[in-house]
Amino acid sequence: MNQGFRKYIPFQPIRLPDRTWPDKVITKAPIWCSVDLRDGNQALVNPMNLEQKLEFFQMLCEIGFKEIEVGFPSASETEYEILRTLIEQDLIPDDVTVQVLVQAREHLIRRTFEAIDGAKNVIVHFYNSTSTLQRKVVFETDMQGVVDIAVEGARLIRSLTEEMQKTSDINIRYEYSPESFSGTEVENSVWICDRVLEELGATPDNKVIINLPNTVEMSTPNTFADQVEYCIRHMKHRDSAIISVHPHNDRGCGIAATELSVMAGAERVEGTLFGNGERTGNVDIMNLALNLYSQGVDPELEFSHMNHIKEVYEACTSMKVHPRHPYAGELVFTAFSGSHQDAINKGVNYMAREHSPYWEVPYLPIDPADLGRQYEPIIRINSQSGKGGAAFVMQQSFGYQLPKAMHPEFGAIVKKACDRAGREISPDEVFDLFKKEYLEVSGPYELLNYRVFTDQEGDRVVAHFEGEIRFEGRTHPVAGKGNGPIDAFFSALDQIGVHDFEFVSYSEHAVAAGADSKAVSYIQLRHGDKIIFGVGMDSHISIASIKGILCAVNRTCGGLRPQA
Ligand code: KIV
Ligand code: ZN
Repeated sequence: MNQGFRKYIPFQPIRLPDRTWPDKVITKAPIWCSVDLRDGNQALVNPMNLEQKLEFFQMLCEIGFKEIEVGFPSASETEYEILRTLIEQDLIPDDVTVQVLVQAREHLIRRTFEAIDGAKNVIVHFYNSTSTLQRKVVFETDMQGVVDIAVEGARLIRSLTEEMQKTSDINIRYEYSPESFSGTEVENSVWICDRVLEELGATPDNKVIINLPNTVEMSTPNTFADQVEYCIRHMKHRDSAIISVHPHNDRGCGIAATELSVMAGAERVEGTLFGNGERTGNVDIMNLALNLYSQGVDPELEFSHMNHIKEVYEACTSMKVHPRHPYAGELVFTAFSGSHQDAINKGVNYMAREHSPYWEVPYLPIDPADLGRQYEPIIRINSQSGKGGAAFVMQQSFGYQLPKAMHPEFGAIVKKACDRAGREISPDEVFDLFKKEYLEVSGPYELLNYRVFTDQEGDRVVAHFEGEIRFEGRTHPVAGKGNGPIDAFFSALDQIGVHDFEFVSYSEHAVAAGADSKAVSYIQLRHGDKIIFGVGMDSHISIASIKGILCAVNRTCGGLRPQA
């Protein structure tokens, strides 16, 4: 057995027995801040160029982000130029605040203030690492040394702001991150955050963002929520702060950690679209927002053009959205399994029938149409699919409402085709099977010409069928009468030896056929121990029924189908 696990130190939980977050429910969206252009960008194999950043920035604005971290302008010339372009070309909407990141180091802070000159609304976000491990192995300093760095940074930022505001009406807000907060003793986090708030002159009317990063996710999400609740409850100047979180996803729990920390009192969340970011990524804001949406909470972000958002994201980052990515993946609204397909089909029909104002479809937590994805097949057909799946495709993609009793018969035909093909089959292939099996069956009995009419016999109306049927190479004139056209056709068939068919069920509906609409009839007949369906289609409903009967008779007698 591999003993490697012994080298890892388990994360110690926080002592907070009276924690309150487990009973909280999220009823309002937090303030969202996109860090795609900074944290997301710095994690790319090829960081975005100017055009890509500008395109991405514009998309973030369209989605509805009001706070966007655009980069680390003191870190590189490219980053600096991008911010200057946004400002000088007036590309930042008035209601959007750009955020810039900087380490708490004097020359970098000064360069950052040069970069923001001329902007309208800016958040200057400064940070230094506070974690136990980094103090030991990176900085070789104690907590006091780390607090001093943050306090000096805060002091410089405040004085540069005051200086700049003497000559411009730039609106500057502050954000401080004790980087690696989740790896820092909670008492130390409280200490440094309070000192920074004091140094920046934060007040309840002029709040500073205190951003608590889960820089490396090291614990279960409940522990992160405890760390956040602990800080909120112990900070002296909590009223002068907006509490923000910045979760990463190292343990794959970024979404859970964020949601629990919002329950613990975080008011603001930093993250990226589709969870791009360092290592396993930042928390996915799209995922968080749509989790709220699917709980009936306005996420205050717009994802109704998900495919467009995905395209821009993939083009700018060269990253791929996984096919099973929540809400956005290509396969997330698709059901292959028979029982899932059946339940989705029933849910969709239930909603149409009951005019339900709520989304009540099993297996689909959200309406794909809300994300602009209504045209994709929800149900796809492979050998795992059940009878309901093929019927759903026929209805959703082609408008044919197969009667319930017909689902097993057509489902078996489709399943056999999938097994034969050894792969998924497309909706068009399902429809081709339907045509071949029902609409294009042409023998052994072939209806050549016909006429259906009624006349009066005494005080009763009688239906007549007259026509010619080709069978075994010969054309047979036939005629019959009855209470209705179906009855009349059965008695005409009797003349060429087609009998012992019992009528079991009938249903019909109209279907669009090019510019016109046609009637489709589904006829179920019993012949000995066989029960079989026929389908007929015509612009006249009675002819559609007659064709349906002949189709069922032909299928019972072997059925001549078009060759592949
Ligand atoms: O993950 C992190 O801690 C960061 C900080 C700079 C906020 O990205
Ligand atoms: Zn980060």
